[in-house]
Amino acid sequence: MVTRGLAVLIAATMLVIVAACSGGGSPAVAPSESRFDWRLPAGFPLPLTEPDNLQTPAKFALGRKLFYDRRLSLNGTQACADCHQQSRAFSDGRPTAVGSTGQHHTRNAMTLTNAGYNASYTWDSTRVRSLEAQAIVPMFNTHPVELGVSGHEQEIVARFRGDAAMFRDAFPGEHQPVSIRNIAKALAAFERALISGHSPYDRLVYGGEENALSPSSWRGMRLFFTKRAGCSECHQGFNFSAESRYAGHSKTTPVLVRNGVTDGAFRVPTLRNIELTAPYMHDGSIATLDEVIERYVVARKLTLDASERADLVEFLRSLTDKEFVSDARFAAP
Ligand code: HEC
Ligand code: HEC
Repeated sequence: MVTRGLAVLIAATMLVIVAACSGGGSPAVAPSESRFDWRLPAGFPLPLTEPDNLQTPAKFALGRKLFYDRRLSLNGTQACADCHQQSRAFSDGRPTAVGSTGQHHTRNAMTLTNAGYNASYTWDSTRVRSLEAQAIVPMFNTHPVELGVSGHEQEIVARFRGDAAMFRDAFPGEHQPVSIRNIAKALAAFERALISGHSPYDRLVYGGEENALSPSSWRGMRLFFTKRAGCSECHQGFNFSAESRYAGHSKTTPVLVRNGVTDGAFRVPTLRNIELTAPYMHDGSIATLDEVIERYVVARKLTLDASERADLVEFLRSLTDKEFVSDARFAAP
């Protein structure tokens, strides 16, 4: 059967990529790092960690607590999790985000699905290169104010003195473990573990489960990877994004791309869990996936008839990972 042949081909390509990249040249994994159970989905590479922020269960636990803790905002009204909600694959359902003091952000809150693999962070920066550096942004942003920490560092840090034991476990041997720097590191450790790879598409490609996709998603998948639709020219690899970084494959240059649908150049975002992260694009200007496809057809002059457009949308829905959005490890502690 042609369709089965395609699935095997895709699976084989992915496995070769992953094998090639997780093999030679990757630095030895430190013992403390190996103790963290990433629970990697089949076919997924090991995320990179920063050399000074090895992944440990204690750091993940602290990061999870902080991610859901509204004391991280100056006025105590907003946590990371208010703009990055698990049920929405860690986005917020708004066109553009609203900060703790009511100021409007110009950008749509991004999904954190597989964020640990990204070569750069935010919609249009090539400079924010780690989750540690990114975590500082919403805390200290003043245009607009998000969490409003800027100028109140001591006050915020003081709120967490009562949690010193968790900080000590996460950062053993440090003289002053409760610090903004360590808050950012722990948040990054939590986010790095937000790995999503149990969608119907994964069950087909990595699990060999032939009936995981409906006939319409099958057709949509085949179209997605054709030159005629052109989607995979930009949404590439296991994460359907631009270049990914992972252990043994760290040297990637972030790129910003124009898709013709929106104005300006942006990072190619992952399409995993896309069904859950409406509205779409950097400014949340497109409400539904049907509309996204319509806009691509017009902007890129694609020759796709109505049933082919519907098939593409069905395929995008097959990238939804229900386990990810209900995984208790990622929920509020
Ligand atoms: C007011 C809502 C809001 C809050 C609070 C918030 N974020 Fe975000 N987040 C956003 C928006 C909007 C973007 C996109 C920013 C941009 O492109 O300039 C974003 C982007 C990100 C990204 C980049 C993802 C990627 O793939 O590039 C990460 C990581 C992230 N946020 C983590 C956090 C963490 C950790 C916290 C808590 C310290 C947090 N956010 C708090 C709205 C928010
Ligand atoms: C030339 C590169 C390119 C091509 C080709 C391309 N995309 Fe995109 N895609 C992007 C970029 C860049 C963005 C982010 C643009 C923005 O935020 O304004 C994006 C955004 C999206 C989004 C919204 C993501 C989100 O989180 O809001 C969807 C859905 C999408 N693309 C699907 C597709 C489909 C389906 C195709 C094939 C018909 C396709 N793309 C072809 C580069 C591309």
